[in-house]
Formats: sequence, C-alpha cells, structure tokens
Amino acid sequence: MNGINGAPLLRTTGLSKSFGAVTVLEDAGVELRAGEIHAFLGENGAGKSTLAKLIAGIYRPSAGQIERNGRPVTIHNPREATELGIALIPQEPRTFPDLSAAENIFVGRLPMRSGLVDWKSLYGRAEELLHELGVALDPRQPARSLSVADRQMLELAGALSLNAEILLLDETTASLTPGEVSRLEVILRRLSAAGKSIVFIGHRMEEIFSLCDRATILRDGKIVGERMISETSPEDLLRLMVGREIGEKVVRGSVPTGKPLLEVKGLSQPPLFHDISFSIRRGEIVGLAGLVGAGRTEIACALFGLSQPTAGTILVDGKPAEIRSPRDAMGYGMALAPEDRQKQGAFLPISLWENASLSSLPRLSRRGWLKDSVSRTLTTEWVKRLSVRCREIEQPLHELSGGNQQKVVLAKWLETQPKILLLDEPTRGIDVHAKTEVHRLICELADAGMATLLISSDLPEILALSDRILVLRSGRIVREFDRSEATPEAVIAAAGVSTGLPDKPRSMVA
Ligand SMILES: Nc1ncnc2c1ncn2[C@@H]1O[C@H](COP(=O)(O)OP(=O)(O)OP(=O)(O)O)[C@@H](O)[C@H]1O
Ligand SMILES: [Mg+2]
Repeated sequence: MNGINGAPLLRTTGLSKSFGAVTVLEDAGVELRAGEIHAFLGENGAGKSTLAKLIAGIYRPSAGQIERNGRPVTIHNPREATELGIALIPQEPRTFPDLSAAENIFVGRLPMRSGLVDWKSLYGRAEELLHELGVALDPRQPARSLSVADRQMLELAGALSLNAEILLLDETTASLTPGEVSRLEVILRRLSAAGKSIVFIGHRMEEIFSLCDRATILRDGKIVGERMISETSPEDLLRLMVGREIGEKVVRGSVPTGKPLLEVKGLSQPPLFHDISFSIRRGEIVGLAGLVGAGRTEIACALFGLSQPTAGTILVDGKPAEIRSPRDAMGYGMALAPEDRQKQGAFLPISLWENASLSSLPRLSRRGWLKDSVSRTLTTEWVKRLSVRCREIEQPLHELSGGNQQKVVLAKWLETQPKILLLDEPTRGIDVHAKTEVHRLICELADAGMATLLISSDLPEILALSDRILVLRSGRIVREFDRSEATPEAVIAAAGVSTGLPDKPRSMVA
C-alpha cells in the first residue's frame, strides 16, 4: 500500500552521516510504506539508530535526501519531523523524572484553558492513551519511579497522541517480557492495519518473524540487503547481519552443588515484595523471571543496599550481612549490573576506559591515583572480548551505540571481580553475536565459583543460563523450577500473563 500519488510515505536516498572524520552511515536508501512494519536489523553499532534519528530529525544528514509522500523535505529538528507526521520512540527514553507520566506524554504541548494547564483534560487524555496501550499506570505518578519499559510506553503514548503516520520504534521491546511484547505487537498490527508505517528496530529474531513484513539489513553503516520476511529465514538474516557464521549457542554444563554463598530469608519491603527466601550456591546461576513490575529489579536493588527492606535477613557465606549501602554490598563482594544505563552515569562525558574502571577504583588505584595504564590495558581486553565497537578507548561513552554502551557497563561491574553478581537485563540491546559472548562469559564466571542472580525478560536467555529459575508474581516467589523441568510455557504460565495486564496498577507499588 502506498501514500499519496503512489509514492511510499517516506523514502531516503544516499543518506549518509559522519561524525568528524568517521562515517557511521553511508548511502542509505530505504522506503517506508503505509501499512507495513519494516525492521531495521544489524549488529550493535551497525547504524540502525542513526538511520532512525536522521528520519526523525534528531540528526542532520551529511549527505543524501529524504522524500515525504514523494516530495523532498529537509528535517531540521524533531519538531519539524512531528509536523511531517514522524515520531521516534528512542532507545533511551527522554523522560523528565520530576514530571508526572501524563506531563511526559504531553511535554511541550500541555492542554491549556484560560492560560492555565487544564489538568483534568491532561490526566483524562493520558489515561485514555495508556489504557489503549494496555499499560496499567497512574498518569499522576512521577516518571522518576518508572522502569525503562514504562518510560518507553510514555513515548509511544506521546507518538499516538500526535497521530503520527510514521512511527519508528528503537528497541522498544528490549526490556519487555513476552506477554508485554505480545500486547505491543497487537497494538502495532492495529496501527499498521490503519495505514501507518512502522519501523521496528530489535535484536530478537522471534519478534521480527512474528511481527514484521520487510527487513532492511545494515552492516558497518551500509545497507547490505532487503528482504520480505515471508521469503527469508533467521539464518539468512543473521548471515547478512554479521557477514560470517555465528558461533554455537552456549549450553550450560553440570549443576553446581557447592555451599550457599548468598542466602536470603524472608526479605520484605511492602508493597514491592514480600517474604522472599532463596539461596544461590557457589557457581550457581539463579534466574529470576516475572513480568515487568513484578518486583525483580526491586529485589536486586534491596540486596545491593540501594533500598532498605523492612524485614528479613541476608547471609553471605553463612554469616549475616549488614547491607545499608552499595558500598557495604561491595564490601561483601557483590556487584549489581543495572538495567538502566542512564541512571548509572554511562552518559557522563568521560572516556570509555574511565567508565569501565569507575567501580574498581580501590583495586586499580595506588595512593589515591588511578593506575591508568593498567585500566587502559584491562579496558582494551574487555573491548576485544565483548567486541565493543568503538574508535578508541579514549572516546566518550555516550558516543557509542546503545548495545555497545551496555557492554561497557557490564565490563565495569565484571571488572570488580565480584563473588556475587546481580545481573539486571544484562543483554538488553546487545546483538546476537555479542550476546553469545556475554552468555559464555557469565557461564565461565559461574564455573569459576561466582554466584549469579540473573534477571532477564529474555526467556530463552533465562532458560539457557539458569540452573534454577524463581518466578516472581506481584512481589512474591510463586514457583521454583529446576533446569530440567523449566519450559517456556511453564515459566510464562507461572508468571501469569493471561490477562495481558500487570496484576495491579503500578502506582500502588512504586
Ligand atoms: N555522537 C556520536 N559521535 C561519534 N560516533 C557516534 C555518535 N553516535 C553514534 N556514533 C557511532 O555510530 C555508529 C552507529 O551507531 P548506532 O547507534 O546507529 O548503532 P545501532 O545500529 O543503533 O547499534 P545498537 O544495536 O547497539 O543500538 C556506532 O559505531 C557509534 O559509535
Ligand atoms: Mg541503536
């Protein structure tokens, strides 16, 4: 289906983008058609977000052209993109933490009445939009307390409110659990059936094949192919993306039987979680599954001293541990690799190697001075090991693509050589190839005796790596599975996705 005068809704020709002397996108030509869901695929750093940002007016092209409905346009900024009916849901949502969810949806265009903000209409409209998206979230709630997934939903609600004709979703599903992904897929199909053009950026092949009609594949800043999804296979797409064969998937070996390294007994922090008890043995990987909002991140934060539980005990190596701050937790050999890069200083304008060393300062310093040659060497090793795409390790971290930033954040915590590692969505936004590398690394560290708590919305990841899986629902552990008995269906059923909505409005738990 096409737009006015048979032309696609949007077409780019020869689109290029350089930062200084580095060209990150070259000669990109794509067509976005009405009623089509179009995937941009490629490894971390391939140029997917860059292409989306050029279309959405966030970047200005270094060369090339964009046509909207067959007419050449110059998009100077996001506002002009909005006027052209183009909306981007970015990889890192731009939320204002002190504003409410509703204000974030309508930021810059709050409904006014007699010169004052019309709060009633604001909250009413926000509620309608969120309801349409099936997000049970109080529009009055401050955005500060919201997860990445929820904040992306605010962006999507904003785009819907603008009635955009072209919607670009940059890794919106990366932090959603399977049930939430299905809900979003229903919404996207509805929008595309209504004639909108949707660009879907993501790394999960299942989603591409269940949702998309067409795919444009990028490698090293160039478009290397275009495929109709009905005429291709995951193998074909992966080959195009990486230009080489992919290594074997990681399969975890024997189940560890060592002594418990971390024991949690009756941990409660109402209304977030209640009576949480579990243990992780030396060398064991315990997966924590559940819906977004079920309390997974909150438990990890409490264990790491970022919040104070009201009841319960934590034992490390059999001895009670007093954990009141992350510093205490690190003293017990714990590390938390968090889900939220932005809150973790990954956007500080300091270099990649300084970022990677940030959490290991005591070990990497001498008399208060950072041994920077040691840090640089270590960072170089991590860069190689996790195939971080960067110009040099002196480059500021915020210049890296989303997935590559995530790798550096992971390296930063692994660099602390923890005994107990809490991983919250460790491979969010990391491509297939690097993901295998991260999985191998997690297994190696476990084999070397580390106790790991793995929180992930990626069910195949949880199933592949975990020795045991705990399923959390509304802040309580409702099931425990051994590796041998855990199937995708059983875990999804235990997490309770049938209603398609969280068990209770998140305003009650935030
Ligand atoms: N502001 C910038 N300055 C310099 N280089 C940049 C800047 N922004 C992006 N890049 C580089 O451009 C390349 C493409 O980045 P882009 O964000 O488009 O990748 P991506 O395909 O979206 O990857 P990911 O899957 O990790 O999100 C990367 O190598 C990145 O380091
Ligand atoms: Mg990206």
